[in-house]
Amino acid sequence: METQPVIAVVGSVNMDVVSLVAAFPRPGETVHASATSFHGGGKGANQAVAAASAGARVDFIGAVGDDAFAEPLAAGLAARGVGIEALARKRTTSGQAFITVDASGQNTIVLSAGANGQITAGEVAAAEERIARASAVLTQNEIPWEATYAAFSLGRRVGARVIANPAPAFEPPAEAYPLMDTLILNEVEAATLTRRAVATLADAEQAARTLLARGARAVIVTLGPLGSLYLDAAGSRIEMPTFPIEVVDTTAAGDTFIGMYTVAATRMATAEALRFATAASALCVSRRGAQESIPTRAEVEAFLRQRAGETQAADS
Ligand code: RIB
Repeated sequence: METQPVIAVVGSVNMDVVSLVAAFPRPGETVHASATSFHGGGKGANQAVAAASAGARVDFIGAVGDDAFAEPLAAGLAARGVGIEALARKRTTSGQAFITVDASGQNTIVLSAGANGQITAGEVAAAEERIARASAVLTQNEIPWEATYAAFSLGRRVGARVIANPAPAFEPPAEAYPLMDTLILNEVEAATLTRRAVATLADAEQAARTLLARGARAVIVTLGPLGSLYLDAAGSRIEMPTFPIEVVDTTAAGDTFIGMYTVAATRMATAEALRFATAASALCVSRRGAQESIPTRAEVEAFLRQRAGETQAADS
């Protein structure tokens, strides 16, 4: 029988306030939204939901506030099978993300950290037992850097693979890279970390080589419609194209890829895990919202059966 992977996620949870617009407003411009709705989101929480949906037992280490959003956010995570015993309650607002989605499904996001901004390195250290029983710990950049770095150090010390998603992007200090087992980032984040434009697969490869040289053991650069590129320190290189699909809303596509890949990589070879994660994020962009757009493992498997023969990985 398949053993259930255990994953710890140290990160953010937000209430996403999503407005649908025909086109993004320019500076100084006012536009009408055709609809506005509220959804559970946050990069950490979305990745936790994706990992749980892929079949892992997930422990979420994060914080909500003491406002009206706290309960629905916690209940939403629990309803998707995410363990919330280590979800702290802070005397402030819950994290919020103000998202606009345009007619092509692209988005812009403004974050208000709220409780996410109060997570401390000490709270992460207190979750040592949870991180120690996980095979991987997933992090992003929506909580204070000291707390994220504490998750890196703790993960390395207790033998959990450290999966780092530097989103929103800022350049981490040099000593952080050797603690990253897998660094997963999109083209914008890759450009910020390497200070070079990343638009093509060739640019992504150059960026990934730069990040490997800094000490990360494996790097995955996701490039939206161009697919993704995996490179590791042992010399593997895998290009994974995307599946053609009608894009409705790209929100949480990266989070879906990361959570699903993390779990799939515990069960299958890297190329197969990349294909599984790519299929999951294709399903995610075909639906609206963040957590509610994340497919289940069964849905991803059904999609892969339907699309058998498409998107073969190019290994070298
Ligand atoms: O990656 C998508 C997420 O980014 C949204 O759910 C929003 O909360 C922001 O954190």
